[in-house]
Amino acid sequence: MTDKLKVGVLISGRGTNLQALIDACAEPGFPATIALVISNVDDAYGLQRAEKAGIATQVIRHQAFDSRADFDNALDNALRKSGIELICLAGFMRLLTAEFVDTWRDRMINVHPSLLPAFKGLDTHQRALDAGVTIAGCTVHFVRIEMDDGPIIVQAAVPILPGDDSDRLAARILEKEHVAYPLALRLIAENKVTVTDEIVHVENGAPSAESLINPSGN
Ligand code: GAR
Repeated sequence: MTDKLKVGVLISGRGTNLQALIDACAEPGFPATIALVISNVDDAYGLQRAEKAGIATQVIRHQAFDSRADFDNALDNALRKSGIELICLAGFMRLLTAEFVDTWRDRMINVHPSLLPAFKGLDTHQRALDAGVTIAGCTVHFVRIEMDDGPIIVQAAVPILPGDDSDRLAARILEKEHVAYPLALRLIAENKVTVTDEIVHVENGAPSAESLINPSGN
């Protein structure tokens, strides 16, 4: 018997965020456990990460279904069968139907490599550089129908450094994703997160630093 929150992770690719969640869940006393990893892509490397950790995996190929609704139903069935209580999207590159999103409202979270609501969608790092922002970052949020939208749980800020290109920036943001995502999962699993009027409140949720200013002027 376990009273840990049962998590299902949906992936499409390499799964470094999945790995961060696997590692967090392996810590003694971590309040969540990953019961199922689903990929919509056969050869997603994340599947190997899950198998190595002894986690059940399933491939549900979106191409095998006539409609998005049928694909989402298959996802829903698999998740329910495994008793999943919370879905973590971790580089899952499929848009979900409104029905699926509503069914899992406040029980599905996503990580996105920008400080939302800025830079939704793809190619976020290059777009941040092109916009000339001096601070970028990542966001973990509850999923709503609009892509990369929904109540924000955790954000981490990453300064743009001289000479950054999108790969360098992406790598530094990814490191923060690997901290922010397990943190958000832990806070939810500890029942410290509530959503009121689409704003998240985190019990005792104090920031780790007062501010990040870039450039610093020094
Ligand atoms: C991550 O950077 C994640 O933030 C991004 O895909 C990458 C997946 O990497 N997700 C999105 O852009 C969602 N809109 P991973 O497979 O190594 O975790």
